[in-house]
Amino acid sequence: MKKATAKAHSNIALIKYWGKQDEGLRLPMNASVAIGLEEAYTTTTVEFDEKLDKDEVTMIGDEFNEMETTKVSEHLDRVRVIAGINAKAKVVSTNNFPKAAGMASSASGFAALTVAAAGAAELNLSEKDLSILARQGSGSASRSVPGGVSVWYTGETSEESYAEKIDFPKSWKIKVLLVMAEGTGAKKVGSTEGMALSKKNCPYYSTAVEEANSNLNKLEKAMAKGDWSAFGKVIEDECFRLHAICMTTTPNILYWRGVTVEVFQTLYKLREKGIEAFFTVDAGPHVHVIVKEENVEEVKMALAELSGVKTIIETGVGGAARLIEQHLF
Ligand code: PMV
Repeated sequence: MKKATAKAHSNIALIKYWGKQDEGLRLPMNASVAIGLEEAYTTTTVEFDEKLDKDEVTMIGDEFNEMETTKVSEHLDRVRVIAGINAKAKVVSTNNFPKAAGMASSASGFAALTVAAAGAAELNLSEKDLSILARQGSGSASRSVPGGVSVWYTGETSEESYAEKIDFPKSWKIKVLLVMAEGTGAKKVGSTEGMALSKKNCPYYSTAVEEANSNLNKLEKAMAKGDWSAFGKVIEDECFRLHAICMTTTPNILYWRGVTVEVFQTLYKLREKGIEAFFTVDAGPHVHVIVKEENVEEVKMALAELSGVKTIIETGVGGAARLIEQHLF
């Protein structure tokens, strides 16, 4: 059978997904918006092979635990059902950034796996269908399929819950700075477990979901008007909304480190000087800074002075998940 390789970019959420209305189908409680990250990506090769008696899953330079391997096999099953095949698969994957450190490796991981597996099974799926499929592996992966700046719709059925690109003001030439915190390993509470706990145990959860919907409205308005300050206000509010839910969940979930807050404070100081760069944080300690190209150097210099910052990766906006020619085996 055919061998196929896909490349998919990670993404950072501007409007956050944190909780499901349907666990099995991974339908989210609220719609979310994300930016694809050009310099953070997963490459995955898949080959279905009648001779294999089980799926063989390898991550180059890292290890997959049993739970992760099972999740990959379950995702391959979704593709096998659509394609009407039984063959097991060999899967080799590599990330160009650390797994499970708050950089949504599951987003690029499941998007790349979806596109590669669909290619290897010779399925001819639309971007929408690939997004629906990727969503069932990991919610945020739905947004890594279209890439760019995308919205993932809540949906009431599986077919309605997918991501697609949305308009982003053309005059905003932006970069994202991935400000990586020193000394962090894999995150302690994974997003799947964390969001289930929050939905159950955070007393403010339903108010917070309403707030996400209202913030999505505000974000759309700010982008339509080209209002950079209003855009930044919403994404920072969303960052605090997610982490307020996490911190007020029982047991408390604290993803931040001291340096996370120091980055916020450095950006506040720059704002007093008229430089408007904005922060957001997903399920980890690292800060993603959204900045206009003309301010990149000054912002980078100020952040590099913080002792808890390990490295700063500058990236543009990543494109759609796609098949590529260079196979990993
Ligand atoms: O789909 P997951 O399990 O990678 O969860 C993503 C959760 C956040 O990154 C914190 C928010 C989001 O919308 O990406």
